[in-house]
Amino acid sequence: MTRYLIAGANGQLGHDLQKALEGRDVTALGRVDLDVTDLDAVREAAAGHDVIINASAYTKVDDAESNEGAAYAVNALGTQNLAIAAAEIGAKLVTVSTDYVFDGSATTPYAEDTPRVAISAYGRTKGEGERLALETHPGGTYIVRTAWLYGAGGPNFAKTMVKLAAGRDTVSVVDDQRGQPTWTGDLAAQIVTLLDSDAPAGIYHGTNSGETTWFGFAQAIFAEAGLDPERVLPTTSADFVRPAPRPSYSVLGHDAWAAAGLTPMRDWREALADAAAAGAITP
Ligand SMILES: NC(=O)c1ccc[n+]([C@@H]2O[C@H](COP(=O)([O-])OP(=O)(O)OC[C@H]3O[C@@H](n4cnc5c(N)ncnc54)[C@H](OP(=O)(O)O)[C@@H]3O)[C@@H](O)[C@H]2O)c1
Repeated sequence: MTRYLIAGANGQLGHDLQKALEGRDVTALGRVDLDVTDLDAVREAAAGHDVIINASAYTKVDDAESNEGAAYAVNALGTQNLAIAAAEIGAKLVTVSTDYVFDGSATTPYAEDTPRVAISAYGRTKGEGERLALETHPGGTYIVRTAWLYGAGGPNFAKTMVKLAAGRDTVSVVDDQRGQPTWTGDLAAQIVTLLDSDAPAGIYHGTNSGETTWFGFAQAIFAEAGLDPERVLPTTSADFVRPAPRPSYSVLGHDAWAAAGLTPMRDWREALADAAAAGAITP
């Protein structure tokens, strides 16, 4: 029986990975039980497993601008540690990455092999994690890039929208960043499908299909929650400046799935209803 280790198991994605792997032989370790920046601890935790899934990350995108070293320790070195341990024991490594490894200047979906050009500290550290893992364990590393994640297991944009709606008449949301809202439930299931297949190691784009802006996503969330979508007003990134710049276009292409004989993830609009039923938009 395949033995799975999840690092970062208590995060938003980790929560749904545990659900997707229910009934299998899984060791799920949160940060308190396994700090991925500690190579000895990683080696000890990895022992006896066939598959390691890295759901840990420093995900505070804005804080990373002034704390790049702390983000690098987790996102780059932590990922490398898991790759070292996986390589030593011949385990598969799935490590989750981000659309923020790209600068957002594209106008058509990013192919998996597009060179990385991050515009934020978070994106740089995640890109380094990808590079180090692929270099350390080339035959057994699966990079699964995702984006705009929301799920029941953590705070997220969708829950924030519903919470804000309770306290004000209108909510302004940027309408000039395009991407793919992605439910952690679908991503976790896709990662399990990938592991159950004989797909080659390499880079895969684990985002729901279709595309929208944050404004479009917020309107869909309002509708799903039974609220009037007209209460969401469009704004621009220039009027909503944050410490870390965001890519304006970060739609990810899905060709690697088909090349591996697998089906890309469904449209984000279809996923939203199931996500809501699973508690992903309930504050
Ligand atoms: N959220 C998004 O919109 C988004 C978009 C693109 C890509 N991603 C990627 O998707 C993956 C999952 O994201 P998520 O939303 O599930 O993130 P999350 O909810 O922030 O979960 C990350 C988990 O990693 C843990 N962690 C932090 N430092 C650690 C360390 N040194 N050792 C072990 N665990 C550590 C965190 O614990 P603490 O909470 O205790 O710090 C947290 O439980 C990450 O790789 C992220 O970069 C996310």
